[in-house]
Amino acid sequence: MKNSSSSGFMGWIDARFPATKMWNEHVAQYYAPKNFNFWYFFGSLALLVLVNQLLTGIWLAMFYKPSAVEAFGSVEYIMRDVPKGWLLRYMHSTGASFFFIVIYLHMFRGLLYGSYKKPRELLWLIGTALYICLLAEAFMGYLLPWGQMSFWGGKVITSLFEAIPGVGPSVVEWMRGDFNVADATLNRFFALHVIGIPLIFLLLVWMHLIALHEVGSNNPDGIEIKERKDKDGHPLDGIPFHPYYTVKDFFGVGVFLILFCAVIFFAPDLGGFFLEGPNFEPANPMKTPEHIAPVWYMTPFYAILRAIPDKLSGVIAMLSAVLIIGFLPWLDRSPVKSIRYRGPIYKIVLTIFVISFISLGYLGLKPPSPSRMIAAQIFSVLYFAFFLLMPIYSKIDKTKPVPDRVTYK
Ligand code: HEM
Repeated sequence: MKNSSSSGFMGWIDARFPATKMWNEHVAQYYAPKNFNFWYFFGSLALLVLVNQLLTGIWLAMFYKPSAVEAFGSVEYIMRDVPKGWLLRYMHSTGASFFFIVIYLHMFRGLLYGSYKKPRELLWLIGTALYICLLAEAFMGYLLPWGQMSFWGGKVITSLFEAIPGVGPSVVEWMRGDFNVADATLNRFFALHVIGIPLIFLLLVWMHLIALHEVGSNNPDGIEIKERKDKDGHPLDGIPFHPYYTVKDFFGVGVFLILFCAVIFFAPDLGGFFLEGPNFEPANPMKTPEHIAPVWYMTPFYAILRAIPDKLSGVIAMLSAVLIIGFLPWLDRSPVKSIRYRGPIYKIVLTIFVISFISLGYLGLKPPSPSRMIAAQIFSVLYFAFFLLMPIYSKIDKTKPVPDRVTYK
């Protein structure tokens, strides 16, 4: 594509709005490292799922009724009477779980290749803010069908704020807009879910991409490709994002859609993982479900909360478990970025961290028992140790020499 001097229709636009300039800067002439691998699919897939959530969400909102009397019935109406309503709903509910799968893999890539390290600290912080927004968005969305888990999950999570010394109970009442989770709560969660958080989310995604393009992408070797350029000023190890990576990402989109459709059409609630059984019963404030658990993507943090018997300490631990992710750029003292050139310590520690996170996720799904409580305490300690001991182990770990140019396996 020509630059802003182009003629015809695009010339007319470019004289008034920098469309071609922006396309070139962020797509056609954005030089990305040549050695992107599987782990680099998940950023563009996150964008895809985001668009899916926005579009299906807008259409669901056309039929959904945000009131305690009508909400559950309106979701049933969408599932049974609205043409292709079931598809819209399952694309949205399955989309939420796939969003988290994609984001967890996207974040894990950061841990593999040290993508949070200088100069990408702000990019990582914006990512952490996005993750927090995603958790809030999912929590509020789950309240909307006004099923048993919506109600009781909402009640458990909002009542956590009771633990704030002194003002706790008034904060909870203020959040709920009533003495219990009720119509007022549903109304405000609806407002935040459909417009409040999505607006912040879109702003953060835009900032995330601008920050990424300012510093340039990292890669599986953790080499800064901007440091070696050809005579035209292009990175020697870079290739234009378009067409090379747009084509590659299309392949990722294809594989993703096959998996996404398989779940939507064959197991939309994935045996209670993506939509829990009790949520197919209308909310009943007089009947507590036997076991209250959040959806899988929140259970690691829920397990940390329950691992500590004191409520306030549990809440602080749970919030710290999320916030500590943002501190990674300052905790990691390793001279190299990528796991390829790190020593054995990081590899072992990262494996233990992944096992702990998944185990916490499992424990958070299960009803509490004394042995599960001990297991949750052990895995919580390991979870925090990964972060808090990082300044030490990342410094003493032996590293391998990093090559000058990117490598291919
Ligand atoms: C809705 C959420 C998100 C969207 C739409 C998104 C989108 C993207 C895209 C399109 C890229 C470039 C492609 C790629 O490198 O895969 C990217 C890179 C990156 N993202 Fe995200 N992201 C999101 C959330 C997050 C979160 C939660 C984190 C971490 C806490 C994060 C950290 C990063 C980092 C460090 C990079 C650069 C990676 C590298 O160059 O190696 N992102 N993101």
